Amino acid sequence: MEGDRKVELSEALALGPGWRHACHALLYAPDPRKLFGRIPMRFAVLMQMRFDGRLGFPGGFVDAQDSCLEDGLNRELREELGDAMSAFRVERSDYRSSHIAARQRVVAHFYAKRLTLEQLQAVEARAPQAKDHGLEVLGLVRVPLYILRDGGGGLPAFLENSFIGAAREQLLEALQELELLDPGTIAKLKVPDSK
Ligand code: GTP
Ligand code: MN
Ligand code: MN
Ligand code: MN
Ligand code: MN
Ligand code: MN
Repeated sequence: MEGDRKVELSEALALGPGWRHACHALLYAPDPRKLFGRIPMRFAVLMQMRFDGRLGFPGGFVDAQDSCLEDGLNRELREELGDAMSAFRVERSDYRSSHIAARQRVVAHFYAKRLTLEQLQAVEARAPQAKDHGLEVLGLVRVPLYILRDGGGGLPAFLENSFIGAAREQLLEALQELELLDPGTIAKLKVPDSK
């Protein structure tokens, strides 16, 4: 999209008062199970179906009430995912990247946090009781990390969905950089260059 680009955190923080900051997080956990007893799930990676029908990560705008980016992020995570989020905090050390959406004057910061499978399952179990469930958030989904024998099923089909903002790029970067995919899947993905 015209005017959308990645920026360093220092540049993002120097943007000035005309800009709104948002923070979103990828929560993931190792999942040792196998689909159909044969296809390793590898990791459980959470995204959400948003009110606008697009997929994105949980999180949202940092408000005046929030004393830092991460306070805003953790407040939004509790609003959207519920009280299982009180068991841990997403911190600056979990920060990964910032994307500018110039037209909206929004800078979206992205975080990724590794949980235990038990923690992640608790988030999923409690999410229907969250304040924004059924409103801003229509449901959580796990991202399929494999490619089925037909060549398109699994992650390639998932990536055909409609994503909000930079969420698709954030997902693909995190999957590669955190080594959540196996090398064979990366090779078959043919990820297009982002510019
Ligand atoms: P309200 O409480 O209703 O204001 O929503 P929110 O605070 O939860 O904000 P939301 O998460 O919808 O999005 C904040 C901004 O970030 C908007 O400009 C969205 O377009 C954008 N956005 C939403 N989800 C993502 C995401 O996963 N990645 C990126 N890069 N941007 C996102
Ligand atoms: Mn079955
Ligand atoms: Mn929200
Ligand atoms: Mn949100
Ligand atoms: Mn909000
Ligand atoms: Mn809200």
